[in-house]
Amino acid sequence: MQAAVEAEATQTAHAPFDVERIRAEFPILTQQVHGKPLVYLDNAATAQKPQVVIDALERYYTEQNANIHRGVHYLSQLATREYEDARVKIQRFLNAAEAHEIIFTRGTTESINLVALSFGRKFVQAGDEIIISTLEHHSNIVPWQMLCEQTGATLRVIPINDAGELLLDEYERMLNPKVKLVAVAHLSNALGTLNPVQRIIELAHAQDIPVLLDGAQAAPHIKVDVRELDCDFYALSGHKLCGPTGIGVLYGKSRWLEAMPPVFGGGDMIASVTFEKTTYNTLPHKLEAGTPHIEGGIGLGVAVDYLTGIGLDRIAAYEHELLEYATELIGSIPGVTLVGTAREKASVLSFTIDNIHPHDIGTILDQEGIAIRAGHHCAQPVMKRFGVPATARASFAFYNTKAEIDALAVGIQKAIEVFS
Ligand code: ALA
Repeated sequence: MQAAVEAEATQTAHAPFDVERIRAEFPILTQQVHGKPLVYLDNAATAQKPQVVIDALERYYTEQNANIHRGVHYLSQLATREYEDARVKIQRFLNAAEAHEIIFTRGTTESINLVALSFGRKFVQAGDEIIISTLEHHSNIVPWQMLCEQTGATLRVIPINDAGELLLDEYERMLNPKVKLVAVAHLSNALGTLNPVQRIIELAHAQDIPVLLDGAQAAPHIKVDVRELDCDFYALSGHKLCGPTGIGVLYGKSRWLEAMPPVFGGGDMIASVTFEKTTYNTLPHKLEAGTPHIEGGIGLGVAVDYLTGIGLDRIAAYEHELLEYATELIGSIPGVTLVGTAREKASVLSFTIDNIHPHDIGTILDQEGIAIRAGHHCAQPVMKRFGVPATARASFAFYNTKAEIDALAVGIQKAIEVFS
């Protein structure tokens, strides 16, 4: 199966990017909204699902449903095999060394909280430091704040410049033996900044400090190779990767996951239980208590194979074209200010319009069938850094088109006319 996926990826690598053929694989994209064709530009919030993923979920419930890791019966073994095969698909997608380095979670938020609770409990004490950055999503801020409150550790924050780029010199100065972890976004959800994570990791590792990357936004848009990056942890969400909601992944290097205590106790995570003492299961089960989101894991496996079939490099190149086109077109509309103008960006165009609240922009665009996100994007500190309460954000996927960006530009002009 994997060979087939790779063979297809190789075959398609040189074919022209046929966006109409891809769009035909996403049933939701043919919808009308308020009598207009849907223009879905809220992909940073969640991605739409191709028919193969929808089919996998239906197949699971019509042909495979049973609890896993527990039964000797046919269906239980079938469901277990499908679920564990999905883990291997995700291992390959991230190029992790071992399948047991892939821990299924509910999503990026749970993955980061799991590290904060488990790694934090074991390795962080009063007087230690955790480094994050100004452009983090709340899910990569609050778990560390909570850990610092509990332990007496200190949270340090890498500043950014006016383009939304991390100040690496400041970061380098912040590294010291008290730092127990660096946790930064691979790609900013609010600004679209693609952080220089390779350099961030090299600098941290030079002082033996592990690094967690919040990959919620990056994984759907660029090829992620955790071994090449040499990151210690990588967190992602299935639903942003064209997979189901409620499923995500924590990748961790074996040596860290082995050393980390479980956070949740219950079924599947134990080797033996007596009232005197419980011993824990091996990885990955030690960190996956209870019946998991079985169909979510299976659906995510199908989703990553689907993306691999198209080719992440081709997706990245096509989306880069879309982003450049949108930056030029939307950025040149009088009254529009782009928020986040880093040299290295992907997929996200955040903007404000003079005298129009982002929520009003979002509402007017919605009437045109255009879905964007308006608000603080769960990144209030970065809004504060730019002196705005909120932005409007268009975020692109490989199934979007330049014609949809033209529709966005027309919608923005309408909003400007309504409020002028
Ligand atoms: N984190 C998601 C976003 O940026 C929900 O919209």
